[in-house]
Amino acid sequence: MPSTVVVGAQWGDEGKGKIVDLLAQESDVVCRYQGGPNAGHTIVADGETWKLRQMPSGVVSGTTSVIGAGCVVDAQVFLDEIDLLRGRGIDPSIVVLSGNAHLIMPWHVTIDRASERRLGSLQIGTTRRGIGPTYADKASRIGIRVQDVLDAKILRQKIEVALAEKNLWLEKIYDVEPFDLEVVWAQYAGFAERIAPFVGDVSLLVDDALRAGKRVLFEGAQATMLDLDHGSYPFVTSSNPIASGAATGIGIGPTRIDRVLGVSKAYVTRVGEGPFPSEIEGSDQARLRELGGEYGTVTGRERRCGWLDLVALRYAVRVNGLTSLALTKLDVLSTFEELPVCVRYTLRDGSETEHFPAHQSDFHHARPVFETLPGWAQPLDDASTVDELPPEARAYVEFVSRALDVPIELVGVGAARDRVLA
Ligand code: IMP
Ligand code: MG
Repeated sequence: MPSTVVVGAQWGDEGKGKIVDLLAQESDVVCRYQGGPNAGHTIVADGETWKLRQMPSGVVSGTTSVIGAGCVVDAQVFLDEIDLLRGRGIDPSIVVLSGNAHLIMPWHVTIDRASERRLGSLQIGTTRRGIGPTYADKASRIGIRVQDVLDAKILRQKIEVALAEKNLWLEKIYDVEPFDLEVVWAQYAGFAERIAPFVGDVSLLVDDALRAGKRVLFEGAQATMLDLDHGSYPFVTSSNPIASGAATGIGIGPTRIDRVLGVSKAYVTRVGEGPFPSEIEGSDQARLRELGGEYGTVTGRERRCGWLDLVALRYAVRVNGLTSLALTKLDVLSTFEELPVCVRYTLRDGSETEHFPAHQSDFHHARPVFETLPGWAQPLDDASTVDELPPEARAYVEFVSRALDVPIELVGVGAARDRVLA
């Protein structure tokens, strides 16, 4: 299959980086199509641990890696990761950055922080990397794009226009220090020289690759339930992680996508605020967090932990058009005697549903209906195929596949590259 989208089927941190890294071995191009350094992809390859935020996970294996127009870019993080590649012996010329991607400017980060502070108990729990304010300016058409740094005069003009408004906001609304035009201009003019060699026509590159029959992988950051349009708004990110976002974010038509692989943990985690019906009550939550090492890659925050939610996953199958699923971190469940799985929600009027509620109030008040499956109480270290898993673990995987009517293509049973079973 020449083109594949890999998309998070839950609230992020499903282990997409590892799956992408695995599939990147057989790909010619890997693309990031949305999001920015709010993502945190952890990849363990050849005994080395990589933590990437801005780059596609494909860089780890030296595959051509593109960052599309739908992404937002922190110039400093981008350049730091270029240096990281160099330091680990990977030629950074494999990276191609769309000139249409928007730059996260220093005021975006300041506004992200200040607006979260201002929201108080209503805060989104963002990663405070300036993501939302950057996408907001993109939609308002006052954003600064990667291509703008290539022309010092245009860059100065754009910063001037932006600051005329932003500084007012910063001082009058958020009560923080304004930015100085000359300082910001000098800093970004300085980035220009280093960024310029990486800027290219991403849409054309990917189209050419597909026409030549090459294998292209589209790597979603964040996840389905964090999608701006279809996630649990307002507790979402400001872009479209769902599979169709790959077409808009790169600049190809939706007919060019051949398959969509969803990635889900064998349980659920969520960072940030918002409703979470299958969140575990009691001490098993902390136990699962410890066993799974569930702390944010970018922010270090404790992730909230829940039992697998098939209602939300069924929704992910629908809005992404998933053709298959990868179930990760199955090994983390190994010491539990019993494994509740959320199969339906009970709504406020007492009715039960298998489908994700279309209205926020229904979702906020949804209660989980659990079916309890037997655990396997033994490590999964010896299994090298799905058939070698303990019968209860296999039954768990089959239960999920049947409930969702989607084949499970990959099962993750450990951190290393070779601990993903086909
Ligand atoms: P933002 O993307 O920083 O604006 O954050 C918005 C919401 O998305 C918050 O709930 C974040 O915790 C969540 N979020 C953003 N990126 C990630 C990620 O890579 N993994 C998990 N959650 C994320
Ligand atoms: Mg992550």
